[in-house]
Amino acid sequence: KDITIIGVPLDLGAGRRGVDMGPSAIRYANMKERLEKSGYNVIDIGNLNVPTPETYRIENEKLKYLREVKMVNDELARKVSKVMKEERFPLVLGGDHSIAIGTLAGIADLKNNFGVIWFDAHGDLNTPDTSPSGNIHGMPMAVSLGYGHPDLVNIMSFSPKIKPENIVIIGARDLDKGEREFIRDRGIKVYTMHEIDRLGMARVMEEAISFLKMNADGVHLSLDLDALDPNDAPGVGTPVAGGISYREGHLAMEMLAEADILISAEFVEVNPILDQRNKTAEVAVGLMASAFGEKLL
Ligand code: ARG
Ligand code: MN
Ligand code: MN
Ligand code: MN
Repeated sequence: KDITIIGVPLDLGAGRRGVDMGPSAIRYANMKERLEKSGYNVIDIGNLNVPTPETYRIENEKLKYLREVKMVNDELARKVSKVMKEERFPLVLGGDHSIAIGTLAGIADLKNNFGVIWFDAHGDLNTPDTSPSGNIHGMPMAVSLGYGHPDLVNIMSFSPKIKPENIVIIGARDLDKGEREFIRDRGIKVYTMHEIDRLGMARVMEEAISFLKMNADGVHLSLDLDALDPNDAPGVGTPVAGGISYREGHLAMEMLAEADILISAEFVEVNPILDQRNKTAEVAVGLMASAFGEKLL
């Protein structure tokens, strides 16, 4: 499969400036060359147009920058759908995790039974009522399941984008009260850090992959860099201690490549302002290369 890169320099969905520079930082870490080395034809179509926070004001504290976040995700959904129609692999660079709303909408435009493997310290399963922050990057998984503000839920004019039984969340360690209830009520499969420590990443990934293979056709990888331990990936907007190690992350990506189930991917929440010499973007590119089958030997 050949790859089309889409940059989305959006930080309006996050509480803090900086992840808007994620796409540049990831490109600067030699992403394209690295993927081409594994034999892919890679086209970078550049960044979507994204409004700057300073030129807008927050209208609704429960859904910060709703209108702007919706606008960007409308456009992203159309782009992702177009890339998939061209039979290329969409690789989306964030930006904050609210962009998953658009990515999943674009995939769902073509696929009615796809799966998602979601690496994250967080659940991103908040609704405006349960969100402690009003930041939309804490809501994309709920939105894609059909819960949240109608302007977001109905992007591409249909809902839901994904079924709860087609989702696996890996690396969670900071879930809000409402998110825990959401997970329990809808039976979403979550491997927290506890299961990763206890079972090991190899077993977690074996289970996750066979679960997704059984239920879904084709899997989207959504990787929030804060899934990793802040020692390995310090440049993220919302770091949480006790995360996935560098090698555990690579092992997970290598196993996904081996299983050959991915149809699209996004790498989000890289924040160069908080980083150490672009370390987190370099980690992101390494993980990407592993997910695309770069060989160690
Ligand atoms: N749960 C918190 C919130 O809703 C943090 C979400 C962080 N999300 C992220 N994509 N980094 O605000
Ligand atoms: Mn997160
Ligand atoms: Mn560990
Ligand atoms: Mn996230």
